[in-house]
Amino acid sequence: MKYLTSFVAVALAACAVTDARGLNYPSEALLDIKTTSGHLSGFINKTARNVRQFLGVAYAEPPLESLRFQPPKRKHSSEHVSAENYAPSCKQIISKSPTVYTEHMTQFLTNGGDSEDCLYLNVYAPLKPTAKKLPVFIYIPGGGFTGGGADSLYKIPDKWIQKTQSHIVVTMNYRVNLFGFPNAEAAQQNVGLLDQRMVVEWTRDNIAAFGGDPHKMTLWGQSAGAGSVGMYGYAYPKDLIVKGLISDSGAPAMLARAYAELPLLFGTHYEYRGNSTEYEWEVAEGMQSLWLSFANNPKKNPQAGNVTWPLYKPNENNMAVFAEAGTKWFQLGKGSLTETQCN
Ligand SMILES: *[C@@H]1O[C@H](CO)[C@@H](O)[C@H](O)[C@H]1NC(C)=O
Ligand SMILES: *[C@@H]1O[C@H](CO)[C@@H](O)[C@H](O)[C@H]1NC(C)=O
Ligand SMILES: *[C@@H]1O[C@H](CO)[C@@H](O)[C@H](O)[C@H]1NC(C)=O
Repeated sequence: MKYLTSFVAVALAACAVTDARGLNYPSEALLDIKTTSGHLSGFINKTARNVRQFLGVAYAEPPLESLRFQPPKRKHSSEHVSAENYAPSCKQIISKSPTVYTEHMTQFLTNGGDSEDCLYLNVYAPLKPTAKKLPVFIYIPGGGFTGGGADSLYKIPDKWIQKTQSHIVVTMNYRVNLFGFPNAEAAQQNVGLLDQRMVVEWTRDNIAAFGGDPHKMTLWGQSAGAGSVGMYGYAYPKDLIVKGLISDSGAPAMLARAYAELPLLFGTHYEYRGNSTEYEWEVAEGMQSLWLSFANNPKKNPQAGNVTWPLYKPNENNMAVFAEAGTKWFQLGKGSLTETQCN
């Protein structure tokens, strides 16, 4: 019933309001959403006019002072919260020396600085949803467990949702480095992973109000985020909450195996780095469609157009391999790579 109410509101939205910053607000109701973290006011960026954005939503109390190094403490509030700006990334070492990321792939870097007060998430939801209940991706950014965060161009899915109107994405910050993984005998271990779990619980409790289906959630991470997703499966086998897991370029024992970088991520590179090649577009769009197919039904082999991605069979398939033939890309269902082939 709760869900039905918000869907009806979507269907009736008609009048538009423009605020002082020139941002477009279709109706108060669609952007004002009650959550366990407070009564959020989201916004619509004119660069993605059919996407509702709720940024910088606190899911835990700031992990400061007596809460430092501790498991996250869930935030509960009924106050009004302006959800229009990203929160800082979690405290990390930001090196000044040039790397492949600072020179060539700046989209991976975080914007907006870092802080110990960083346990925030972001919700991106379509304005004109194609169904009453949409599948939801909960995304864990990478960064080697020592850095990274959600305010990073590659992790901003607005353009993708603008295009499909058929899914919701939640992105998160979690504690990294010393603060998330203190590795001290007296400390609680791996509180960064507990932050991630709290985001999954938050999404379960709140996503229906945004038009999401809490029974159709997929946890997805890249690099250290992918390792986290792998560990999540082992940590909560009886209470996964989510229906699907995507480990994109990483595994729990990340250093022990080769891993290939799948085409990233939300297709934002067109806007920020000039045009990609047709081949890159095709691969990126193909992957996005496969991921959406998986989120819609994790029990079925993901399918997009005439590409079907066979389900992973432990001990049979070592790795999914992608290849280019002329201008087309396709997947070799079964294949194995050795460490040297990846380097
Ligand atoms: C709107 O999106 C653009 C990129 O498309 C970004 O540069 C800008 O900061 C965004 N505005 C807000 C208010 O988030
Ligand atoms: C990208 O491609 C479009 C269409 O092919 C073209 O109009 C535009 O100028 C290109 N932009 C850049 C930055 O290369
Ligand atoms: C797959 O579909 C594309 C168009 O969507 C088509 O051009 C291509 O030939 C098809 N490939 C196969 C192997 O059927």
